[in-house]
Amino acid sequence: MDDGVVNQDVVVFFDTTLRDGEQSPGASLTSAEKLEIARQLARLGVDIIEAGFPAASPDDLAAVQRVAREVGQGPDSPTICGLARAVEKDILTCWEGVKDAHKPRIHTFLGTSDIHLKYQTGFTYQQGLDAIRKAVTLAASLSPDVEFSPMDAGRTNPDYLVEVCALAVACGARTLNIPDTVGYVTPGEWHDVIARLIELTPGAGKGSGVIWSVHCHNDLGLATANTLAGVMAGARQVEVTINGIGERAGNTSLEEVAMALATRPHYYNVGMHINTKEIVKTSRMVSNYMGIHVQPNKAIVGANAFAHEAGIHQDGMLKNASTYEIMTPESVGWTQSRLVLGKHSGRHALKVRLEELGYTLDKEGLQQVFDRFKVLADAKKNVTDADLAALMTDELHKPQEFFHLNDIQVMSGTMGMPTATAKLSTGDGEVHIHAAVGAGPVDACYRALDAIINLPNTLIEYSVHSVTEGIDALGEVTVRIETPDGARSFGGYGADSDIIVASVKAYLAALNRMIAALGLGAVKPEGEAATVAIGD
Ligand code: KIV
Ligand code: ZN
Repeated sequence: MDDGVVNQDVVVFFDTTLRDGEQSPGASLTSAEKLEIARQLARLGVDIIEAGFPAASPDDLAAVQRVAREVGQGPDSPTICGLARAVEKDILTCWEGVKDAHKPRIHTFLGTSDIHLKYQTGFTYQQGLDAIRKAVTLAASLSPDVEFSPMDAGRTNPDYLVEVCALAVACGARTLNIPDTVGYVTPGEWHDVIARLIELTPGAGKGSGVIWSVHCHNDLGLATANTLAGVMAGARQVEVTINGIGERAGNTSLEEVAMALATRPHYYNVGMHINTKEIVKTSRMVSNYMGIHVQPNKAIVGANAFAHEAGIHQDGMLKNASTYEIMTPESVGWTQSRLVLGKHSGRHALKVRLEELGYTLDKEGLQQVFDRFKVLADAKKNVTDADLAALMTDELHKPQEFFHLNDIQVMSGTMGMPTATAKLSTGDGEVHIHAAVGAGPVDACYRALDAIINLPNTLIEYSVHSVTEGIDALGEVTVRIETPDGARSFGGYGADSDIIVASVKAYLAALNRMIAALGLGAVKPEGEAATVAIGD
């Protein structure tokens, strides 16, 4: 393991979780969730937040404006960036989105590979250059900070790539972002592409003030390796997402690049502004809001990233942790319990432990978590940090509750039909009870909820995970539901020692998100059961 920092040059982190990450299949965030993630990204220390694609929809524009106004204020706040195709309408709308930030940025792009030119825009090389000239000139007339990306650079003719980059700089771009849009390149190749561009692009060489950036996709599992190769070649901006989420196989993951730079300072020889201790918290927030579970063996943030199973490894770890760990779990925000919490632990011990884990609660919040902790501690001998993190996720990341779960009761087994009775209440105090029969206990519960809420949807994903080992472990459930036309989807998360209850919480969270996002919250429940209907 390297130690000591030989820091001169800084690599800036451009986080695109809210834009490219939100393009993940199934991901969809409300504007309030985007704002909370943006706030957390600022705490994490990212330099630039790409908050969305303002021309995509009025909702996207409003969400970017909110991030610009509420997270992008003050000289120490991150730069707030919006994406725009190289067309006038997109660039003007993008500026509307970001202009209220203290440090706004317009990011415009055009596909430059022969494949994209031929099949997507139908442009010749010259028409591509004309479009870039117009777009970057317009963007630079509006914003002091402009980034240009030649999309599919990984498959673009190398000489044409130099020409478009030189033109973008001459028209006012300050950052040249080189995307491997389809995850096609290899690290050695990518290093040479970036080094060649820095060397040959007029007006953008060393000392010009132009920042070179890399944006890699993970189709061959090489996104992090390619990004680091770009850094070695001189790129000083990396475009990344939390947990590596994004289109298809995803983008480069922020935590992997940040920890590579932090763990091997002598090798990479660059500094950064990322506060690595915020990584795990950010990862959980993004996973829960997007309803995208992090695989257990995911580097840095997976549940097993610091778990040691083999006897020889455990033996080494007990003698000295450096035998099998190249970084400490604490350095990325995992913590190791010094206090063992159980059913005899009081409110104060819980408060202290939660503070050590980075959660500060007011009196009311602490009482709520304490009540849940007591129920859990009755069912489970030791409550671990992972259990507490799951409880906190469940409490903190709850959507606005149009329907609240009062009670759920299920009968299932080998005799008869699984039956569930659900009792929900609405904000105005009305209580609704419904019983339903299903193919299994979870199906019966979901049918009972559907009978009360009456919001047509399709369940497209359902997964259960155990937070820790053991028969008494806390279960985490993630679900994703879709509107009947398949246009929008919403995630939900629930944690409980009873997986049926966790399943109900997760489904109800997704339904509440759907109600909020579709603007159905004001619809008054009618008759016996509360009713909301799409299109009202
Ligand atoms: O992958 C890509 O090419 C992009 C661009 C818009 C930068 O996301
Ligand atoms: Zn991308």
